[in-house]
Amino acid sequence: MLTKRQEAELVTAVQGRGEIPLKFAYIGDGAKNWDTIAKERSVTSGGINSTEASLLKRRLNDFVSTLKSDKGINIVDIGCGNGVPAIPVLQYLSERGIPFAYVPMDISQEMLDLAIVTIKTRFPNVICKPFQMDFELGQFSDVMYEIKKDGSANLMLFLGSTLGNHSDLSRVLTNFRDSMTSKDYLIVGVELTNLAKINKIIPHYEGLQINMFVGHTLRYLHISEGVFTCGVSWNDKLSQIEMRANFTGDIRAEIGGDSFLIEKGESILLARSIKFTEYTVTKLFSDVGFRTELLTTSEDRGYILTMVQPTRYSI
Ligand SMILES: C[S@@+](CC[C@H](N)C(=O)[O-])C[C@H]1O[C@@H](n2cnc3c(N)ncnc32)[C@H](O)[C@@H]1O
Repeated sequence: MLTKRQEAELVTAVQGRGEIPLKFAYIGDGAKNWDTIAKERSVTSGGINSTEASLLKRRLNDFVSTLKSDKGINIVDIGCGNGVPAIPVLQYLSERGIPFAYVPMDISQEMLDLAIVTIKTRFPNVICKPFQMDFELGQFSDVMYEIKKDGSANLMLFLGSTLGNHSDLSRVLTNFRDSMTSKDYLIVGVELTNLAKINKIIPHYEGLQINMFVGHTLRYLHISEGVFTCGVSWNDKLSQIEMRANFTGDIRAEIGGDSFLIEKGESILLARSIKFTEYTVTKLFSDVGFRTELLTTSEDRGYILTMVQPTRYSI
């Protein structure tokens, strides 16, 4: 399931920071676990993807009219998941006869495959150009440059509040920024949280389905569920929800011929969800070197969509 490089990254993360990077949970069979969760958050459920979809639909006219291209638009769906969140954008373009290609990018081949099935089912004639890549490892200007050689424009999407799952937000956003020219745009969807009511949202991270999803990489390491319990807590200092495996016994984990010990009482971070306010999210984009072209929030101020571009000149 994991490449040699990913195995090395995994062992280093466990031993160095006591963390299993969440991105590995989407690889292989893990894609199905995510698909199940995503369907629960989707259009009919009133979950965050449904809020994001209605906000997108409301403001797409503004977003798309900002792009200048007679040669069509590449919708670059970064961290595409099952592809469903991109549908409102493609629907909008399709209804107006604006030519587009769908360019999903993801670490997981299985997620890319699922996204293409979703999109091809809705838009049978669409050109799909999938790219399997890890956006934490560096910029991908080669891909962005290649797809717009025909004179089309690039609109990148980073939807589903995926930003908050990463340990180093600036690094992820810097990689995006360094992959963009000043003609490319990026739309990011992020959930906003009332930090005074954090206890109310902790239950959203509990349950069998979600434990199955975040526990995927532990199973890859042949660590059985009998030796740890899952716990969810709020880390006030880092402003993040944390999901941890708390070990109740010693266990030797094996990977790529190497083995290492996890001791009773140790805790391994399986997932984080950084919580933002409008101030922290807009400051983050500005600090990384993005200018905001458009910004919109849901009526209840629980979700933000922002369309940004690299800042060309320092002010
Ligand atoms: C939280 S899901 C969101 C999926 C989708 N955008 C949505 O809104 O439902 C995160 C997606 O990003 C992908 N992903 C996570 N980390 C990644 C990385 N470092 N490089 C590439 N893809 C990554 C996962 O495989 C998964 O498809």
